[in-house]
Amino acid sequence: MGKDVIVACDFASAEATFAFLDKFANCERKPFLKIGMELYYAEGPSIVREIKARGHKIFLDLKLHDIPNTVKKAMAVLRHLDVDMTNLHASGTIAMMEAAKEGLTKEDGSCATLLAVTQLTSTSEERMQKELLINATMPETVKKYAQNAKAAGLPGVVCSPLEAKLVKEACGDDFLTITPGIRFADGDVGDQVRIMTPEKAKAASDYIVVGRPITAAADPVAAYKRCVKEFLGEEF
Ligand code: C5P
Repeated sequence: MGKDVIVACDFASAEATFAFLDKFANCERKPFLKIGMELYYAEGPSIVREIKARGHKIFLDLKLHDIPNTVKKAMAVLRHLDVDMTNLHASGTIAMMEAAKEGLTKEDGSCATLLAVTQLTSTSEERMQKELLINATMPETVKKYAQNAKAAGLPGVVCSPLEAKLVKEACGDDFLTITPGIRFADGDVGDQVRIMTPEKAKAASDYIVVGRPITAAADPVAAYKRCVKEFLGEEF
């Protein structure tokens, strides 16, 4: 899988999603899309099939976290949706990640790209230490969780763009880093705290996940093109 820009379709309904996607009807590049909990819980698996039928690649961002047997069975259901990427929480342990991979693997041995969320970018080091009683620093925790994901046979992690370099150093250049928290230099930050521009993120991120800088832009197609130009150096 090469580098790409993934657009987060954080909409509450299929109607709002398709109104957004229709704007890209004449765009020469079909965006890779992320479907998160809000849209999936509102519309169910049909939304994945409908978006797939339009020819988009899909990252199904459901962040599973449960006992290994339950996660394995849930992943076996998701396997039939034939998404390109999906994910779980690394904090569910290596055993849970291994079980998830088993559930997601098809009969022919192929498997969607299964990523582990290290620590959410919304979790501060202070809360992690005080509430979760994790005594390590944030970089140490992210590094260990990424190493656990690698040990479980996963190909990469979702992390902050500020941690992508550290993950590559710990797990190797081939280990994928998918990073949200992306903002244009002149754009609104919103509720994201640890952010980076698409241009800076290209040094250590394989995929950037971009939501509001594109979905809330006056011209979403122009914002998408700007992202692709900054991150991939591609103009169209
Ligand atoms: O609108 P914005 O660009 O902030 O959207 C970022 C997307 O990435 C959202 O869908 C959010 O749920 C997701 N995400 C994140 N931080 C993580 C994991 C996922 O912002 N650690």
